[in-house]
Amino acid sequence: MGGDIVSLEELSRRAASCTACVLSATRRRVVFGTGTPHAPLMIVGEGPGVEEDAKGLPFVGRSGALLGTLLDEVGHDRSAIYVTNTVKCRPPENRNPRAGEMAACRPFLHGQLEQVDPKVVVTLGNVATRALLGTTATITSLRGQRRVSPHTSAIVIPTFHPAAGLRGGERVVAMIRADLALAAAVLTESGR
Ligand code: URA
Repeated sequence: MGGDIVSLEELSRRAASCTACVLSATRRRVVFGTGTPHAPLMIVGEGPGVEEDAKGLPFVGRSGALLGTLLDEVGHDRSAIYVTNTVKCRPPENRNPRAGEMAACRPFLHGQLEQVDPKVVVTLGNVATRALLGTTATITSLRGQRRVSPHTSAIVIPTFHPAAGLRGGERVVAMIRADLALAAAVLTESGR
């Protein structure tokens, strides 16, 4: 993308025909992102799962249902959120995206951050958190705190991936809820 300023629509068009990594060979649909173009809150997941790959939309499966419930519980306005993933194509068998795949997809994520220009970014799980913060620290040590990213002027708040909440039960779900509540408080502080 060569550093030029590219609209979300154009980024999405480019992603739809992207063959920059091997994930393009096995994907059904590119899952670019969805939501309000200038949303104050951006949520970044890992990569599409089987349902997202079929529908072309992020977080439409079980993880998405939990995420939606928790966003509602802590009072986030769903119309003020943009949701995307670190990689836009499904890794086979839901494996973690590889470094080269994340690097190939990075211009899309960075373009989305630039265009949406959110106040707060919530990263879900290790993959998204490491991609945004450029760290190898674990989500357990990073969650629930305001972080600074070299890739956006937004405040980054890492939390567990909702899939970890589905596996880990109420103790993990409570931490995700608390972290989403922190994101809501930071947005209120910033007047958005
Ligand atoms: N998990 C993710 O990280 N992203 C999705 O879109 C769905 C499940």
